[in-house]
Amino acid sequence: MTETLALLGGTPVRSTQLPFHRASLGPEEEAEVVDTLRSGWITTGPKTKKFEAEFATYVGAAHAIAVNSCTAGLHVALVALGVGPGDEVITSPMTFAASANVVVHVGATPVFADCLPGTLTLDPKEVERRITPRTKAILVVHYIGIPCEMDELSALAAARGLPILEDAAHAIETLYKGRKVGCLGRVAAFSFYATKNVTTGEGGMVTTDDAALADRIRILSLHGISRDAWKRYSAEGYRHYEILEAGYKYNMSDIQASLGLHQLRKVDGFWRRRKELVELYDAGFREIPELRPVPQATAPGNRNAYHLYPVLVQPERLTTDRDGVLAALQAENLGLGVHFRAVHLSPFYEKRFGHRRGTYPVAEAAGDRLLSLPFFPAMTDDDVASVLEAVRKVAQYRSTEVGDP
Ligand SMILES: Cc1ncc(COP(=O)(O)O)c(C=O)c1O
Repeated sequence: MTETLALLGGTPVRSTQLPFHRASLGPEEEAEVVDTLRSGWITTGPKTKKFEAEFATYVGAAHAIAVNSCTAGLHVALVALGVGPGDEVITSPMTFAASANVVVHVGATPVFADCLPGTLTLDPKEVERRITPRTKAILVVHYIGIPCEMDELSALAAARGLPILEDAAHAIETLYKGRKVGCLGRVAAFSFYATKNVTTGEGGMVTTDDAALADRIRILSLHGISRDAWKRYSAEGYRHYEILEAGYKYNMSDIQASLGLHQLRKVDGFWRRRKELVELYDAGFREIPELRPVPQATAPGNRNAYHLYPVLVQPERLTTDRDGVLAALQAENLGLGVHFRAVHLSPFYEKRFGHRRGTYPVAEAAGDRLLSLPFFPAMTDDDVASVLEAVRKVAQYRSTEVGDP
C-alpha cells in the first residue's frame, strides 16, 4: 500500500518544517557580539585580526586575510594572480555561480572541464584537455568538502607554470593526503556564508603561504589603500594612507569575526556530528535504490568536510524526475537545496560563451538529478529518520515497480 503524497492531499510526514540548514550559534557567539558592540570598534579591528590568526593556524597557512565573502576572496585572488582580459581560467561546471562569475568579473573567460563521475570534483584528464596557451589559472572546487585529485592537478599546473586557486567554500575541515585544504595550491578562498560549516552570516577568508600575494590581497580587499589603513580611526590616531591601486571594499567587520572566533572553536564537534548524520543517512539509503547518495567516503589520508548531503535521483526507477521528487519532498515539510545544476547551462553562460548541453556529460547528468537533503549539526536522529521516511514514501509512490496509482 502506498501512502498518498502530501503534494496530492495526503498527510505530510512532518507536521512542521525541517529546515535545509540551521546555524548552530550559541551563547558564546552572542556574548562576543555584545562585547564587540560595546567595545566601540565594530568594523575591521582586533577581533578580525585574531580570527585571521586563528584561522591561519587551523588551516596551517602562513597568511589569512578576512574578507566579506568567499566570492570577494576568489575575485581578489584572481586579480592578485594577474588574471585579466584575454586569459582563461579552468574550473568546474559543478559549482556555485560565484566560482565562474569571478572569472568574468576580471574580464577573463571561464573554461569548464568535466567532473569525475563519483565525487563530482574536477577530472584532471578533462582539465588537461582544456588547457590552451591562454590558460592563466586552474580554479579547483572541493565539491561538498571532498578534496579534488590534487596530485594530478598540481602536476599539470606545475608542468605549465599555472597557479591553482582553491574554491574551499565547502572545505574548511578537508584534508588531502593528510594536508589541509587552503595550502594545496597558491591561494584559497573559504566561505562563512549562513549555511557553511563555520558561519559569520556573510564572510570569507583567503589563505596563502605566499607573503607577497598575501600583501597584495590585503591591500586590494580594502580599497587598494596602504597596509593597516583600517587603523586610521583607532586610538593610535589618524595617519595618512596612500591609494596604491583601485581596490575593492571587501573587508570583514569585527561583528562578523565575533561569530567566526567561536564557530572555529566548535568546528571539530560540528564535523563529528555531521559525520554521524552521513552514516545514518547512508544506512537508510541502502534500502532506497530510487535515490543514490553522492559517495561521501574518502581515500585513506583524506578527510571529507561533510558540508552537504546530496543524493542523485534515479529517474529510470521513478515515474517522475528530480523536480518532481523535490516538489513532493517539500510538501512533506522538508527544506531542500540543489547543489548544483551545471553552471554552463545557465542562461548567461549559454548566451555569453555559447555553451550547449552535451559538452560536459558528467556534470550535466548530475545537475539534472541532484537534490540536497536537510543537513546540519543540530539535527537529531529523529529528524534524519523523518527525512528517510519522507523519501521512502515519495520513492514508493513514484516507483516504476509499483506504478503511479
Ligand atoms: C562552491 C562555492 N563557491 C563559492 C561560494 C560563494 O561563497 P560566498 O557566499 O561566501 O561568497 C559558494 C557559496 O555557496 C559555494 O558553494
